[in-house]
Amino acid sequence: MFPERLADCAARIQSGFDDVFRSFNELPVTRAMAYATQGGKRLRGFLVLESARLHGIGPEQALWPALAIEALHAYSLVHDDLPCMDDDDMRRGRPTVHVKWDQATAVLAGDGLQSLAFELVTRPVTGPGDVRADLARSLAKAGGAQGMVLGQALDIAAETATDPLTLEQITTLQAEKTGALITWSACAGAVLAQADPEPLRQYALRLGLAFQIADDILDVEGDATKAGKRLQKDAHAGKATFVSLLGLDASKTRASELVDQACDALAGYGGEAQCLRDAARFVIARDS
Ligand code: IPE
Ligand code: IPE
Ligand code: MG
Ligand code: MG
Ligand code: MG
Repeated sequence: MFPERLADCAARIQSGFDDVFRSFNELPVTRAMAYATQGGKRLRGFLVLESARLHGIGPEQALWPALAIEALHAYSLVHDDLPCMDDDDMRRGRPTVHVKWDQATAVLAGDGLQSLAFELVTRPVTGPGDVRADLARSLAKAGGAQGMVLGQALDIAAETATDPLTLEQITTLQAEKTGALITWSACAGAVLAQADPEPLRQYALRLGLAFQIADDILDVEGDATKAGKRLQKDAHAGKATFVSLLGLDASKTRASELVDQACDALAGYGGEAQCLRDAARFVIARDS
């Protein structure tokens, strides 16, 4: 059930982006934006659509926040790959934006995708004005200097830190860098339905951490062809990760505990949330 739902969400998201970009011009920056939104697992968009479904909200409304978070995530990847950040030349199995175009285009495409995210999340069909305002404000917070941008800044600072980060510091770094957007995604369905997002928040806080631990494990023992990006880079770059601090085995145990706890947080939803539980298991079993 989960693989089919994820594939269905991915297809809806791609066709949504195709529609959005059809009305844009053909400048390099626009083509780079469209390029950066192609591919990927679409986990964040899936979390929006699936948490919405759980609250009786259909894709005609939930697609817009799903596109918004995937646009914001794509921007974060374009900038993450820049030479001044992680300096990567491959993403989603293709050349990164600054390699295919140039650095100025990659910076601007990222900027454009960030703005596009707010245009998409506030589309009138998404819901009443106060719901759209809530989604936009929380997205700004999750993506900004109290969320993803903070985590990315801590990640880069850790590369040159004199002392290794503590477990608590790494947990904060990862909760912001990766957890913030994942948490926004999983809460979006409850926000759309004006329901209590707390159980989904508890689920996603743990899922977000497990997701980044899995990404860090993949960097050590994954297959670059399957992952679609260069691996075995984090240790050399001096990245502070669970793996760098605790090693592979303890990191795998921690990720698996977090997934169990994430699933437990959904108890109140009963069997209806099975797909979200399967998504949590997928997050630590994936090879890309
Ligand atoms: C990669 O995210 C960046 C991290 C937060 C580790 P994903 O692994 O979700 O990337 P895509 O969207 O599937 O390409
Ligand atoms: C990136 O984390 C997180 C964000 C883009 C916010 P990583 O640097 O570990 O992601 P990959 O490994 O390049 O996908
Ligand atoms: Mg990075
Ligand atoms: Mg990176
Ligand atoms: Mg990584």
